[in-house]
Amino acid sequence: MTTPIEPLAGSLEEKLRTLEHMQRATLNILEDFDSEKQRLEQVQRASLNILEDFDAEKTKLEGVQRAAINILEDFDEEKRMLQGVQRATLNILEDFNAEKTLLEDSQRALLNILEDIDVEKAKVATANQQLEAANKELEAFTYSVSHDLRAPVRHMHGYADLLKKSALSALDDKGRHYLDTILDSAKQMADLIDELLAFSRLGQAQMKKIQVNLDGLVQEAVKTLRSDMEGRNIVWKIDPLPEVYADPFMLRLVLVNYVSNALKFTRTRPQAKIEVGTRDNQGSEAVVFVRDNGVGFNMRYADKLFGVFQRLHRAEEFEGTGIGLANVRRIIHRHGGRAWAEGKVDGGATFYFSLPKSRKGE
Ligand SMILES: Nc1ncnc2c1ncn2[C@@H]1O[C@H](COP(=O)(O)OP(=O)(O)OP(=O)(O)O)[C@@H](O)[C@H]1O
Ligand SMILES: [Mg+2]
Repeated sequence: MTTPIEPLAGSLEEKLRTLEHMQRATLNILEDFDSEKQRLEQVQRASLNILEDFDAEKTKLEGVQRAAINILEDFDEEKRMLQGVQRATLNILEDFNAEKTLLEDSQRALLNILEDIDVEKAKVATANQQLEAANKELEAFTYSVSHDLRAPVRHMHGYADLLKKSALSALDDKGRHYLDTILDSAKQMADLIDELLAFSRLGQAQMKKIQVNLDGLVQEAVKTLRSDMEGRNIVWKIDPLPEVYADPFMLRLVLVNYVSNALKFTRTRPQAKIEVGTRDNQGSEAVVFVRDNGVGFNMRYADKLFGVFQRLHRAEEFEGTGIGLANVRRIIHRHGGRAWAEGKVDGGATFYFSLPKSRKGE
């Protein structure tokens, strides 16, 4: 609703003054209004600035908060990882403990075994000592028996021989045959006793070991046996042989025994083939063999052949006392080697021995 403007009272002059007055008042009001507006604008600008600052702060704070959340998340992951590592470490420690227990058990078992071995070793050493003592005793017994038997046997032979010479005409055929048998047996027994004495001495004889050239020894052994080869067809094959560490005189006896047996047991062959060779010669041991194409033997008795007076062939067929191989084994054993044989009935034989190549390990 508009208020009706009342007409100004008074004269024109007064009316003009009143109007001027009103105009000034209106101007003042307008001026006041303007300054009020400016102030309000300032306030508004300030408010806007504050709001803007606030926004920036807010964004900053949000950023910080996000970073904090990220850090917390990272931290969680780290924590989880650490827990995993801890768990794995615990597992490893548990495994380690189990392994430790196992190792301790094995160690204890090993110690027990070592103790057992020690006990066994001590037992073996004692048994060895006893065996050595028993062997020495047996050796002494063999020596004294063969030595003491020698004289009575020679007496028996001597007196039987005297009887044959003085009373031969008084005896009939039967009596002469008895006397001849006594003489033969006494001679055989005297020979056996001599062999046994020699065998016994071999066990006691001093050994003088040196580096020996086997080629030379084989040549010597073959030369010694030349009389056994007369009228025979023999093909020899003698390979180069290694050097060994041995007593040359004893070793010569070994070779003479092996070669003389090869000659003897091929006697029934139209052509004898005898080979002297070596094998498995890489290690510290030399292996030498003597092979022939003779009558051979049954492998079941391969080890027996090396025993004293052990023979597989009848004396009527192949002469001998059966002491040769016993001597071989004794000599080779004293050198720390082995002696053995392979053969087949009617399929030839191979006799081996092994010896250390040098002083090492003596
Ligand atoms: N080369 C060989 N072939 C077949 N048999 C053999 C051979 N060498 C040895 N033997 C067997 O082994 C036995 C024992 O041999 P060893 O040399 O000890 O005695 P021997 O030759 O009969 O008599 P000795 O050597 O005392 O004169 C022989 O009687 C024979 O049965
Ligand atoms: Mg012999």
